Amino acid sequence: MSAPVSPDREKWSSRLGFILAAAGSAIGLGSIWRFPYITGENGGGAFVLVYLLCVMAVGIPVMICEIAMGRHTQRNPLGCFRRLTPPASLLAHAVGTGLLLTAVALLCFSAWGWAATALCLGALVFWQSWRVVGLMGILAGFLILSYYSVIGGWAIAYMGKAAKAGLSFETVVEAQVAFKGFKENVGLVVFCHFLFMLLCTGIVYSGVQRGIERACTLMVPLLFIIMAILILRAVTLPGARAGVSFCFTPSFKELTGRSVLIALGHAFFTLSLGMGAMITYGSYLGRQDNIFAASVWITVLDTLVSVLACLMIFPAVFAMGFAPGEGPGLVFQVVPAVFHRLPAGILWGTLFFLLLSVAALASGISLLEVVTAYLVDERGWVRKRAALATGAVTFAMGCLTAVSLDDWKALPALEQLLVTGFGSARSSFFDMIDNLTCNWMLPLGGLFICLFVGWVWGTRHAVDEIRQGAGNFGDVHLFTLMAGLQEDSAHNAGTHPLTLASLWGVFVRFVCPVAILVTFLHAIGLIQVPPQAHDAVDDPPAARSAPHPASLPPSVVPQETSPQEPATR
Ligand code: TRP
Repeated sequence: MSAPVSPDREKWSSRLGFILAAAGSAIGLGSIWRFPYITGENGGGAFVLVYLLCVMAVGIPVMICEIAMGRHTQRNPLGCFRRLTPPASLLAHAVGTGLLLTAVALLCFSAWGWAATALCLGALVFWQSWRVVGLMGILAGFLILSYYSVIGGWAIAYMGKAAKAGLSFETVVEAQVAFKGFKENVGLVVFCHFLFMLLCTGIVYSGVQRGIERACTLMVPLLFIIMAILILRAVTLPGARAGVSFCFTPSFKELTGRSVLIALGHAFFTLSLGMGAMITYGSYLGRQDNIFAASVWITVLDTLVSVLACLMIFPAVFAMGFAPGEGPGLVFQVVPAVFHRLPAGILWGTLFFLLLSVAALASGISLLEVVTAYLVDERGWVRKRAALATGAVTFAMGCLTAVSLDDWKALPALEQLLVTGFGSARSSFFDMIDNLTCNWMLPLGGLFICLFVGWVWGTRHAVDEIRQGAGNFGDVHLFTLMAGLQEDSAHNAGTHPLTLASLWGVFVRFVCPVAILVTFLHAIGLIQVPPQAHDAVDDPPAARSAPHPASLPPSVVPQETSPQEPATR
């Protein structure tokens, strides 16, 4: 089942270029913003360990699936599923039938909105079969970018403010008030969102090699340099030790089932899985490159940044006497107050928000590229036109997010529609899109990607794809050997059950789907796992100005109904 390759399709110029671009996609607000605060809320070191396990058990196997699918078909997510979907798939029919039956059941409960959604989805699955997963990925890319770029814009604005000494807050409460005021300044928020989208569009417009690869080759090393500087500053502060040991001393009594599910959900988002970003980036990868090793590298780089982000933030937070379990406000509300207390605070604050902006930008371009690649591959548009159109529409959609950050005041008709159709609306449009994409579309996308590779395309075909190029990665030859993926060996998953390749097959067919399904059911509130029995962290000795989460602005307050906090990934 080898797909013909269009000769003029763009390619990464080198495997390092691919790894840096994919790592750029993975390293983003998820790693630098969300990971530190969920670590802070879930007890530090033990959570980091659980997260590492989730990444190895689910993150890497799913990433290998996506890259292998992309490289095999050399297509965007929709084109990829189009090429690999068999004429009739029993599993797709089963899913379609399940959705139609669910629609009938929902109708009986008069849940009109949900019933209509299930009905449409069921019909779509019968009509498009597995291609629906590709379509959903493209839609998710567009939706995620529309609010991701608003947060990217915040980072840019805060960088500007920090440079102009505009972040001089004595207390976290002061920083909170300023943050709320900033978000209400719609003109400024929209302007910064525009700047962010302009940068994203400019990079994607310039092409895969000249745009994305070049930008990421610059940005990813820059990220590491800035982090190194900030970590050096943080860990050399008097009193930083408590923060370092907070990050690395596992305390298992604070871990709950809920923390494990949060770790798994986070692994998915931070590795850019579940919507075809890695399918798209994998589609520009040459046959001679090693997919297994590349996936390990991308994951290692992303995880390294996540852990380093903790090491950059917590020592300074502890040294300055703040509490680590501050929740989503950690980056925009606690960190500015922390830096203000340091000598040369302007420099550290500016560097920190530069870091955040660059990380968000490298992720944003991967989201934009998914939609652009679809328009180029499937609709025959030229890249420049596709990038500009996608950028413009995403900007418009993001404006809706920007005007409704805290509530529905700006979009009352939509709120009314949601309440009538679905029984309730989230606290804002921003939260609704965040919930829809991260709690529904990404886990479902990931689940179906695993099921597709494991049971429809088949792990054997996937291993054939992965094996190509497996011998050409001298620097990580060890992985290759361990994986039993040597290009010219007669080994395969069936005859050598103990190789990593067959282990991967077992994970993709059984372990990952079950783990993702449980995380999904938890995220949408169908499985209730008790939260931490007690406060996850002891306050540091001189903790002060610690706000209760309820005092945070609505859009950064964790929702009771969803453990996946809004606006935080
Ligand atoms: N991984 C990025 C982060 O951690 C966000 C991101 C970029 C993403 N592309 C994605 C998330 C694709 C899901 C799917 O911030």
